Amino acid sequence: MTAAVEDGAAAEPEYDEAAIRFLGVMWGEGYLSPGGPAEVDRVLAGIDLTGKSILDFGCGAGGITLHIARTYRPAEIVGYDVEQPVIERAKAAAVAQGLSSIARFIASPPGRLPFDDGAFDVVFSKDAMIHVPDKEALFAELFRVLKPGGVLAASDWLIGHDGEPSPDMQDYIAAEGLSFGMASSCRYLRAMAQAGFADGIAESRNAWYRDVARGELARLKGPLYAEAVAAVGEVYVAKNIRTWTAMQKVLDSGEHCPTHLRASRPAAGIRP
Ligand SMILES: C[S@@+](CC[C@H](N)C(=O)[O-])C[C@H]1O[C@@H](n2cnc3c(N)ncnc32)[C@H](O)[C@@H]1O
Repeated sequence: MTAAVEDGAAAEPEYDEAAIRFLGVMWGEGYLSPGGPAEVDRVLAGIDLTGKSILDFGCGAGGITLHIARTYRPAEIVGYDVEQPVIERAKAAAVAQGLSSIARFIASPPGRLPFDDGAFDVVFSKDAMIHVPDKEALFAELFRVLKPGGVLAASDWLIGHDGEPSPDMQDYIAAEGLSFGMASSCRYLRAMAQAGFADGIAESRNAWYRDVARGELARLKGPLYAEAVAAVGEVYVAKNIRTWTAMQKVLDSGEHCPTHLRASRPAAGIRP
């Protein structure tokens, strides 16, 4: 497996230094999504990663990539992201944690991935596919870089339908201010099957995150407030209290659906 582009020109960062610091306070150092190691382990449950080659698509600041490298002892894990600040953080953390012989990190612009066909045994992703609106192109690309017989194991933030988002959902997406391209589990599963994946499964994590997010908001307003303000300032924290409040509404309504996804690339010669 070779990377055609190492540290290529990345897109303008949405996950800048302030976002990395703030989300580190909320979700743990190097994590840009909720649930910590336990949620990652749940995404990966039952998959033997020992000695395998893994892609972490949309790896962010590398907390999860390094958890996988440390805990599951793959031969190699490659964290890929389109943004440079998160990749710089991830590289520094890999060196600091003595994991740079197993974990390496690559930034390149969105689109075709800088990896050969069939480069990985496992493609993992945590809450990053939401940023890719063209799900069909996304899954075609993830299928391409998986070996025949390889596994896709992911978590992402989906929406409950493919119609116009409700006014509450529109408020929430506007509050985030991030490039969300949300789609339903039906669209994800269809795009996965169209790409050639077999045995596609989507498991809603709405009930879990609905409760967790309520606790996160309470902690942000209470015990975490001073630490968050020290990290990013009052205005930034106030904006995020508004965002979490808007998010809770659409978690409670069920329109915002964090979801785990699993599928496999059929072994050579086997058609799905
Ligand atoms: C919510 S963060 C999750 C990061 C990491 N997986 C985690 O859970 O800590 C979403 C990540 O997706 C990345 N991203 C955005 N667009 C992307 C794309 N087209 N391809 C790959 N990653 C992308 C962002 O830069 C960001 O690091």
